[in-house]
Amino acid sequence: MGAEQVLPNPDVLFMNNSAKHFFDYQPEQMLEQKTEPARIEKQANLLSLPNPHELTTSIRGTAQVFEDPVSLALLNRIKLIAPSDANVLVIGETGTGKELIARYVHELSHRKDKPFVAVNCGAFSESLVESELFGHEKGAFTGAFSTKVGWFEAANTGTLFLDEIGDLPLSIQVKLLRVLQEREVVRLGARKPIAIDVRLVAATNVRLEEAVLAGHFREDLFYRLRVAHLELPNLRNRPGDILPLAYFFISEYRRRLGYSEITLDEEAKKKLLKHSWPGNIRELENVIHHALLICKNNLVRSEDLQLSSIQLQKPREDYATGNGLGVDDHLNDALYHMFEDGREDLYGHLEETIIKAAYNYCHNNAAQTAKLLGVSRNIVRARLIKLGMISALR
Ligand SMILES: Nc1ncnc2c1ncn2[C@@H]1O[C@H](COP(=O)(O)OP(=O)(O)OP(=O)(O)O)[C@@H](O)[C@H]1O
Ligand SMILES: [Mg+2]
Repeated sequence: MGAEQVLPNPDVLFMNNSAKHFFDYQPEQMLEQKTEPARIEKQANLLSLPNPHELTTSIRGTAQVFEDPVSLALLNRIKLIAPSDANVLVIGETGTGKELIARYVHELSHRKDKPFVAVNCGAFSESLVESELFGHEKGAFTGAFSTKVGWFEAANTGTLFLDEIGDLPLSIQVKLLRVLQEREVVRLGARKPIAIDVRLVAATNVRLEEAVLAGHFREDLFYRLRVAHLELPNLRNRPGDILPLAYFFISEYRRRLGYSEITLDEEAKKKLLKHSWPGNIRELENVIHHALLICKNNLVRSEDLQLSSIQLQKPREDYATGNGLGVDDHLNDALYHMFEDGREDLYGHLEETIIKAAYNYCHNNAAQTAKLLGVSRNIVRARLIKLGMISALR
């Protein structure tokens, strides 16, 4: 085995992150070294790892906001799961904090002083991902000029975070499953297995169940990974976190920008609470950062908050399949959009919509509509008369 082992690039490898600083991500700085051009692009896509040069001065390792009851329940679950050695699957939409939670799981585990290695599975081509994960021997393939330790070995005794696990090619999924079962890796071009002790935390922003059904993800690997799973709610479903997160980001960016105290005015608070946050916590962070850059007299007003009008449209899920979100989640989403539109007489409009939909569903039968909605026939009749859908004379 080679004398000249090459470790994974130190700027994309994060050892002992107890002093994680999540605002120090500088992709440009990650690319400053002598990497071959073909690989530079790949590394630019890697996870938002902190700049290692900043780590020594960073003091914040555990500063997270969990105030809404939904987040507190999640936090409790993390605390239960983290100390074990079980593999963890973190599921959440973009910007919900998957990477932060993965790091937190590591920090709360007995591995906290050991390596935390993070890698984005979607950032590598199929041919590269195998040698990145498992390493290779010198001469294993054309261009393998020296022995290279893979991510698993680099994470030995610590935690390996595989982001976007759904992007892993099927051929690699088989190998990953074997590594998890056997607890050893074989570098490309080697015969001898190397024992490893790694806890895997995988993340996905897609429903892996659907990928399994579509034949893109191995079912056996799916069950192996989801031994412990953490579902991260969207920001709009944990509204109690919105203002605490806003204050948290204000204090961070204020410090970084060298500003004194910053206040949010009442209209600004209302606007933050009304938004549907399709980009979740990351979007909120960006909105606050931007607001601090443009606000005047240390006061953030509603007009300083530039919220996206783009809604991340997702294909409509079939409620009946049980896949994806539940009916209440969809209803909540729809309501948030309406709150945001700022429509007058929203309550009346909602009531009207419910009555019309139910009357339609019941083939214009008022008695059945009342039964369906669990209200009296008189109420339904009165509303239908008001809407001009039936005559008062009947
Ligand atoms: N509970 C929290 N408290 C404070 N900041 C948070 C919290 N959760 C996430 N953040 C911050 O929000 C941003 C997005 O988090 P993170 O990168 O972990 O999300 P993600 O789900 O991995 O996003 P993506 O899918 O886009 O990769 C980061 O700056 C992170 O530090
Ligand atoms: Mg991420």
